[in-house]
Amino acid sequence: MVDLQDKINQVRAVLASAARDYAPVVFANSLGAEDMVLTDLIGKYQPDIEMFSLDTGRLPQETYDLMQQVRERYPVPLRVLFPDAGQIEEYVARHGVNGFYGSVELRKLCCHIRKVEPLRRALSGKRAWITGMRRDQAPSRESLQLSMLDRENGLQKFNPLLDWSNAEVWEYLRQYDVPYNQLHDRFYPSIGCAPCTRAITPGEDIRSGRWWWEDPQSKECGLHVSKAVPGKPA
Ligand code: ADX
Ligand code: SF4
Repeated sequence: MVDLQDKINQVRAVLASAARDYAPVVFANSLGAEDMVLTDLIGKYQPDIEMFSLDTGRLPQETYDLMQQVRERYPVPLRVLFPDAGQIEEYVARHGVNGFYGSVELRKLCCHIRKVEPLRRALSGKRAWITGMRRDQAPSRESLQLSMLDRENGLQKFNPLLDWSNAEVWEYLRQYDVPYNQLHDRFYPSIGCAPCTRAITPGEDIRSGRWWWEDPQSKECGLHVSKAVPGKPA
């Protein structure tokens, strides 16, 4: 059995090689539990990797509280990107402030304006990006690779935590006293925008609180399209 320290060493090696071979490389930081593991490792060992968060304008207060804590605790600046105000105004005028409950199309359009378009700006000029995705989070993530070519965005993508379990993520956070989103203590294992995230009951799928009114097949927001193909290893 691989122990946590081995897994930490493997992640550090991936971060180091990404920073060496793909500079400039950025970490997409949602401030979820997995991303706090990476925040801690990058802050301690690889501060040449830049970090950014996409502030959709609809995040829960607890996520903003954690964002402020990260700023105070870690030396790496967390760049925060906002959606285009004109596009939001047009969406709200046409579909209403909570128009995303109306249909999968309107939900995806909201995610596009609030997340996907700002992501494009965050990745512009970068050679690689890093995410906190894990294989066992969702069926759509089972084929994740450690290093893959992200054709949609035109750069390399690293998923250094892909084979971590949820228990290992939490063991790390506790062992190193890493701050985390207080909603995790209230049965929110996966946290996105406030109106599109709810608590789950024990035993439910960990992403079942995200876009809970939709069919599980449609539950990706467009940040991670499936066109990414296995690429050059780290
Ligand atoms: S989502 O696609 O359903 O929103 P999830 O919340 O599981 O994804 O996060 C998966 C990964 O996407 C995170 O580890 C992070 O790298 C990136 N990500 C998601 N939301 C954000 C965000 N608001 N800001 C920056 N990165 C994000
Ligand atoms: Fe809009 Fe909900 Fe997507 Fe956030 S998660 S961008 S509020 S549809």
